[in-house]
Amino acid sequence: MTTPVQDKLNRPLHDLRISVTDRCNFRCTYCMPKEIFGDDYAFLPRDQLLSFEEIGRLAELFISLGVRKIRITGGEPLLRRDLAKLVERIAATPGVEDIAMTTNGLLLHRHAEELFAAGLRRLNISLDALDPEIFGKMNGRGIQPERILENIDLACRIGYEVKVNMVVQKGMNDSQIIPMAEYFKDRNITLRMIEFMDAGTGNGWSYEKVTTKAEMLTLLGQRYELQPVRPAYYGEVAKYYRYDNSSAKLGFITSVSESFCSACTRARLSSEGKLYTCLFATAGYDLRDMLRSGASDEQLLDAIRTVWTGRTDRYSDERTEYTAKHRSKIGMSYIGG
Ligand code: GTP
Ligand code: 5AD
Ligand code: SF4
Ligand code: SF4
Repeated sequence: MTTPVQDKLNRPLHDLRISVTDRCNFRCTYCMPKEIFGDDYAFLPRDQLLSFEEIGRLAELFISLGVRKIRITGGEPLLRRDLAKLVERIAATPGVEDIAMTTNGLLLHRHAEELFAAGLRRLNISLDALDPEIFGKMNGRGIQPERILENIDLACRIGYEVKVNMVVQKGMNDSQIIPMAEYFKDRNITLRMIEFMDAGTGNGWSYEKVTTKAEMLTLLGQRYELQPVRPAYYGEVAKYYRYDNSSAKLGFITSVSESFCSACTRARLSSEGKLYTCLFATAGYDLRDMLRSGASDEQLLDAIRTVWTGRTDRYSDERTEYTAKHRSKIGMSYIGG
């Protein structure tokens, strides 16, 4: 093992989020608005995606630099064929302590068993509302919440550790805060409420559309006794609370109202092999080009080390209405959150 690397703000490289496709079967208004991601949208052609062999090799190199936690994302990762093969390969790499996936859950009934057998143990499943009309509108495809709820139950039965991600947008689904909290508390499933972020370009973000953690807590506090839970580890993204009468937890992801850049340990690999060091980055470093022109492991390691040690990103600390509107940023569906 090589020495762990730290960036300019002394943040270690600990997590790798791997996007396996830029495609998705949803069109969430806050992520892939239909007006931009229409029928003629040019997604990446297949030959430009990293192969599982290429992803596996890079994952091993990242692990040798200190990465312990790997998350598979998309777009929608379940759209990538034979995904279990990739999971199996990563799970077999010494040094990996945690493999998880973030998914919209729609195709889980087809793949959940196989992925579990391959070594996947944690699933973060997105669901923004229990109300069919609100959820159908937010996912842009009229998909009904029942289909996701059934797959959440299935994942729990299989033995996955499941969390539910709810992006909260003021005026859109804030009416669902209490119903969602109640539903998942009763089922002992951790729900995380995510402040709407200015990801990508053109998702219509403004401060007025953000329901902050403080606002959510005020609302939830009228009904529940919530006790803060200490962070489980350095760099944990969500802030958790415990209900007094349930062992379920409730989390908040507060990129807007309480940024967490000072402990950000996450590198992101896009499906075409670009390395990004922030969710709101403008440009990435092309590792695919190196892979395909015959670079050695040492050369790839040097490149990754150089990118990470030069890193100064702290976008959420610096966010303003101006950067939200005018900075060009990679899309959430492209990089997977
Ligand atoms: P756990 O390991 O289960 O805690 O997962 P996670 O919360 O790190 O990953 P997930 O993919 O479920 O992301 C949940 C939300 O947190 C999404 O909206 C992500 O975009 C957001 N998120 C994750 N990492 C970062 C980050 O480094 N910066 C910002 N601003 N948001 C992040
Ligand atoms: N703001 C906050 N969260 C978002 N996600 C996607 N787009 C946004 C956004 N603009 C969430 C998804 C998923 C995770 C990967 O990121 O709902 O849970
Ligand atoms: Fe929605 Fe996730 Fe698909 Fe984006 S990638 S459109 S958040 S399901
Ligand atoms: Fe990390 Fe960028 Fe998110 Fe800050 S905004 S926590 S630097 S990914």
